[in-house]
Amino acid sequence: MLSFQLIPLFFAFAAPLVSAGPPLFVRKYEGCDTSKAVMDLPPNQTTLVAPATAPLFVLLGVGVQNYTCSGTTFASIGAVASLFDISCLAGTSKFASIQNTAFNVWDHVPSSVPSTAIGPLVGAPYLDGFHYFVTSPLRHGYLAQMGFHLYRVAGDLASQVFRIDTVNGQPPTSCVAGSPPISVKYTSKYYLF
Ligand SMILES: *[C@@H]1O[C@H](CO)[C@@H](O)[C@H](O)[C@H]1NC(C)=O
Ligand SMILES: *[C@@H]1O[C@H](CO)[C@@H](O)[C@H](O)[C@H]1NC(C)=O
Repeated sequence: MLSFQLIPLFFAFAAPLVSAGPPLFVRKYEGCDTSKAVMDLPPNQTTLVAPATAPLFVLLGVGVQNYTCSGTTFASIGAVASLFDISCLAGTSKFASIQNTAFNVWDHVPSSVPSTAIGPLVGAPYLDGFHYFVTSPLRHGYLAQMGFHLYRVAGDLASQVFRIDTVNGQPPTSCVAGSPPISVKYTSKYYLF
């Protein structure tokens, strides 16, 4: 199922980059013309406005959305995804549908295969970082390295991030009270401006 969900708050971080520690986010695929990476916002929404400039870069997210059973419906408790740089694919035939191609692979691999393995299988081998989102406390960030240190993306990287072309990731409509949390696989494109 292809849906067009947007991150409800497209977020802008004003905090300066923290210089200590490992790099926040390592670009491995630079210097591409992103002007062909036109971001099509869903026509039926009026909340968000696409920036007039080309994106700084575009990422393919491959990961899971996590939900807990709250009463008899699922509530989101976070997400984690590997982010592959697809900026240089803009303008190629792969670009428009890469989230579908990646989802078909991701959905069929055994559970032992990590999301980090999916990009290379669909022509997007450049793992730039990790998107890590938990709802409580609200944190939104990118992990630059394996391990679970959270680094917040700050002004240097991008001021606006749009998640569009999300495939799957939605929970079943209901759950049996007391059932354990679930992870639902998804893919998406992230446009950073
Ligand atoms: C826009 O349309 C898509 C696809 O039909 C739908 O999934 C989404 O909920 C709609 N969004 C809004 C804000 O109406
Ligand atoms: C989501 O669930 C996966 C297991 O499927 C776990 O590895 C990950 O840490 C969870 N992340 C969040 C943010 O809940």
